Amino acid sequence: MSAFKITGGRKLHGDLNVQGAKNSVLPLLAACFLCEGQSILHNCPKLSDVNAALDILECLGCRCKREGTTVTVDSQNCDMFEVPECLMREMRSSIIFMGAVAARTGKALMSLPGGCELGPRPIDIHIEALKKMGAVIECESGKLICEFPEGIKAADIYLRFPSVGATENAMITATVASGTTVIRNAAKEPEIIDLAGFLNKAGACVLGAGTDTVTVIGAHKLYGCEHTVMPDRIVAATCMYAVAAVGGRVRLKNIETEHLLPIISTLTDAGCNLEYDGHQIVIVSHSRPHNFDTVSTQPYPGFPTDAGPLLIAMSSVSKGTGVFIENIFDRRFGYIDELNRMGANIKTVGRVAIISGVRHLDAANVCAADLRGGAALAVALMASHGTATVKNTEYIDRGYDGFEHTFANIGADITRI
Ligand code: EPZ
Repeated sequence: MSAFKITGGRKLHGDLNVQGAKNSVLPLLAACFLCEGQSILHNCPKLSDVNAALDILECLGCRCKREGTTVTVDSQNCDMFEVPECLMREMRSSIIFMGAVAARTGKALMSLPGGCELGPRPIDIHIEALKKMGAVIECESGKLICEFPEGIKAADIYLRFPSVGATENAMITATVASGTTVIRNAAKEPEIIDLAGFLNKAGACVLGAGTDTVTVIGAHKLYGCEHTVMPDRIVAATCMYAVAAVGGRVRLKNIETEHLLPIISTLTDAGCNLEYDGHQIVIVSHSRPHNFDTVSTQPYPGFPTDAGPLLIAMSSVSKGTGVFIENIFDRRFGYIDELNRMGANIKTVGRVAIISGVRHLDAANVCAADLRGGAALAVALMASHGTATVKNTEYIDRGYDGFEHTFANIGADITRI
């Protein structure tokens, strides 16, 4: 059980390189299983979720190697199809392996992902999509068995909700289906585009990624390839909201600015000064931010649910009152009680949070209970008066590669204890 000790009030200055995207590297690693031979992924962040995905690949017979931020996956002669429950439990999003494993071996045996800190994590959209391609899926006593008794058939699939994971599972499976698959109402997140880029390098033919209709012309086989993971837009958002909350001037490098437009809009409204080109942003904040009016989370290109806790951390010390509406997950406000322990003035009703900004927060010892909420507590402590700790940093380590180093390198007083 580790914790961060943070002394607030230190302005942030300097340059930082944003890590590779957790929510891209996880589906990419699943896709590596489907590719015959060796795949090389550059810009892979060192995260516990990535380690869990590599453990799953090793369990399935792959040989994985990490050298710095380059990960190599050799899936030669892989014919295992069972993901053990302990590993499924370690990472909620491991359902992303279902399509790749069943597509390669004809069968996938895994446990249901169950719920997580954000609420139930249903997989009905994943199941419906794969059934359309000929999968027979049984769920009994927490186990999921997915088989393609007559091979993988191309299909015309409509997702009832643009689920990121279900879009990824369907795309990966469709790459080796016989014929052309169309996925309608597909998720448009940048991570979908990154996955399509990898799959096409591996010999697939994926068209329309990033739009609501993805077309996949089935190939016979995919082969290992080399790919660089896209930058993590939520880590970039975390750093920018921290600067807005604490003050200072920070240059973020190795980003895709167009992935951050909803974030940039809230920061400009807050009174920050942003200068940016396609791959870097300089954010300057010299005064207390203004609160936003209303923000509601939406699938991409709307405001991303994962950036919500970080926006709220900034909002808690802003001038004015903001109304935040969470439309994606049931339980995304677990960290707000902890923010209020620091003197924030936030009321929640269902999926709505009303944030009345206060002039400053008072450092108080708090506990992380999910990935982005934990990061928001750390940002709030950086903006507070005094010294305190954030416990359960294991949650933060799931998505941030060296959180404490990233912020210490730009002037924050943060150490891991
Ligand atoms: C991905 O989760 C991300 N995780 C999440 O990031 C992110 O918050 C989410 O997309 C939304 O952008 C990864 O990519 C590994 P969804 P995913 O399927 O794919 C419901 C983080 O902090 N749903 O788009 O699981 C679901 O309950 C994490 O980095 C169904 O009802 O998200 C949720 O309410 C948290 N049935 C909504 O759709 C299904 O079959 C969006 O889920 C699937 C999803």
